[in-house]
Parts: sequence; structure tokens; C-alpha cells
Amino acid sequence: MKIVIIGPGAMGCLFAGLLTEAGHEVHLLDKYPERAEHIARQGLRIEAGGKTRVIRVNATASPATLKDTDLIGICVKAYDTGSTIPSLLALVSERTLVLTLQNGLGNVEQVAAHIHPAHVFAGVTAHGSTLLGRGHVRHAGNGPTTIGSLLPEHHGRAMELAVVLSRASPATTAAPDMKAVLWSKLIINACIGPLSALSGLANGQLAEQVEWRTLLRSAAEEAAAVAARKSIRLLYVDPVQAVLEVCRSTADNISSMLQDIRRGRKTEIDAINGAIIREAGALGIPVPVHEELIRRIRALG
Ligand code: PAF
Repeated sequence: MKIVIIGPGAMGCLFAGLLTEAGHEVHLLDKYPERAEHIARQGLRIEAGGKTRVIRVNATASPATLKDTDLIGICVKAYDTGSTIPSLLALVSERTLVLTLQNGLGNVEQVAAHIHPAHVFAGVTAHGSTLLGRGHVRHAGNGPTTIGSLLPEHHGRAMELAVVLSRASPATTAAPDMKAVLWSKLIINACIGPLSALSGLANGQLAEQVEWRTLLRSAAEEAAAVAARKSIRLLYVDPVQAVLEVCRSTADNISSMLQDIRRGRKTEIDAINGAIIREAGALGIPVPVHEELIRRIRALG
């Protein structure tokens, strides 16, 4: 397959590398020409299990050079989704499938406003990936990736795509209810992201320390109540246990929100906790914990 990954962040670089190793023709599309040149020259570096692999990929800032793409993977931060649309439109043909692998809500809808919804898929991934430098990531562990079609009648296409992706990212499956997939990840991110960013703790420590664990619990319960009122069937039975399990299974991971705060970068809090607050507001459900979290994260910078 000819695949373009938009966004050379932690997930974009990881997926570009894994898909290249699985035999696909992969191109990374970056908004910064200088970084694209660096990655094209040096290759991607993936550190895993104490070893570093160098993987050659094409990287460019010019979408015009990337015609006839089979699959486009969008891996930019949620607040950058809108700015990828012109590149997306320059790349798509009638056969191109588009998969957003991003945090938060609203990304897939922004894409589907421009691309035929039958070709649009959303996914979430639990790979542990940390960006160490340009084109350089630490792959802390394989995690499951779940994708779904925007239109339930195209679940079959999502299953076909999952088979292709699973050669690169082993535990990839398709779920028939994409909303359930996105909300299940949203709740995890809305709890671990801001609380790790506020505490400065790695995910595992967050679950161990009783004060932070109590806050994780309140945030998970509050978000799950919104999902329940929207009749979203989460992929787990107990949201609090699900959040704690992710903390433990990614114990050494520095969450992406904490990484953003440490680098002085904008966080995805608006697409994550902001989405929960907006959905709760529309339903008249109070979400004081998430409102406090968003205020505190904004206050950090
Ligand atoms: O954003 C992240 O870092 C991850 O999605 C998660 C699940 C919070 C684990 O670190």
C-alpha cells in the first residue's frame, strides 16, 4: 500500500516506521520542510527493548509530490486537524482511505466534512510512544489499536483495514461502534492526561498515590456518567478500573499531556476534557472535576 502519515509526532513516527517494516511504501508529511528533510536524510529512529532501529522513509512538506495514495493516517495533535485539510484534499483520490489516530473528540467529524464518510475511519491506540527528537521515538510497548468506520454499514471495510494494519501493529482490530471506541479512549485520556500533567507523575505512580487515585476515580466516574446519558456502550464495564489498569499497564509512561507541559507546548485539553464539558453542558450534567482540571491545565500555560 502507498501510505501517507501526516504528522511526525510520537505516534506518526512510530506508525510510519512499523508500516515501513511491514513492507508498505510510507511517506511522512510534515508541515516543517526542515524537519522533513532531516527525517528523510537520517531515517526514523525507534528505540525499543534497549535497541535502536533506523528505518528509511520518505519525508516531505510538499503534499503535491504524493499522489495516488491508498491510505492517509492523520497523527497530528487535535488542535491541528483543521490545518491538515488542505493537504488532505491535495492527496485524496477516489480510492483513498483516511484514518485519524488522534486524541479527543471532533477530529473525525472535521475530516468527514471534506472526505466522503464511507472512506473515513477513526482509531485509538495504546502503543506507548515518546518523542525523543526529530524522527526519534521510544517505543515503550505494543498496545492494542482499535479502529472503526464512521458509517456502521462500512464495518467490513474497517475489518479489512484492520487486517492490513495488524501486520505492522499486531493487536489491531475493528469495532463496529466507533463512538464507543472514541469515548472509551477519551475517558482514559481525560483522567490520566491532566492529572499526570498536574502531578508531574508517570502513569503508574498516579494510580499508586491515594490522593491522585481518588481524583482519577472522580474524573472517571464523572466522564462515564456523560457517556451513559449519551447511551454510549463503553468497551469496558468499570471505567474506574479501566483507567487504573491503563495507569498500571503503562506505568513508566509519561503521558502525552505531561510531555506537552514539560516542553512548554500547547496541550490537547480542549479536545479531551473540553469535549466532555461541552457534551455534559448540552445534556445539563454537572462535571465540576473536569471543569477544574481544564482551568488548572490552562493556568499552567
Ligand atoms: O496520551 C497518552 O499518553 C496516552 O493516551 C495514555 C493512555 C494517557 C497513556 O499515557
